[in-house]
Amino acid sequence: MIVCSCARVTDHDIELALLEIMIEENAPLPTPGVVWRHLQKRLDCCGCAPLAVHIIYEKLEALEAKGLVCPCACANAKDRKRRSDERSAAKARLEGDVVTSKDPCEA
Ligand code: FES
Repeated sequence: MIVCSCARVTDHDIELALLEIMIEENAPLPTPGVVWRHLQKRLDCCGCAPLAVHIIYEKLEALEAKGLVCPCACANAKDRKRRSDERSAAKARLEGDVVTSKDPCEA
């Protein structure tokens, strides 16, 4: 399945890249940017980013279940993603508060 039409990256490309990335010592958080760089591709429009993140974590789960990727590396990546998601949610809430607090001024 094609995940990124700009750079022509498939889910299979992502899986192979993850196998190589996640065996590195101190494996980085496998963001789309990390995976695309590993594949020597460039994100262009970033329209694929949400799907790419979904596929990356789906593939990580599958690789972990097959015993091909260290569960510790996967746990570390998943924990870092969870914390990143929490920071993004908190930031969105803060920005929502800012927008909400601006609304009375606009009235
Ligand atoms: S669809 Fe992936 S960068 Fe445009």
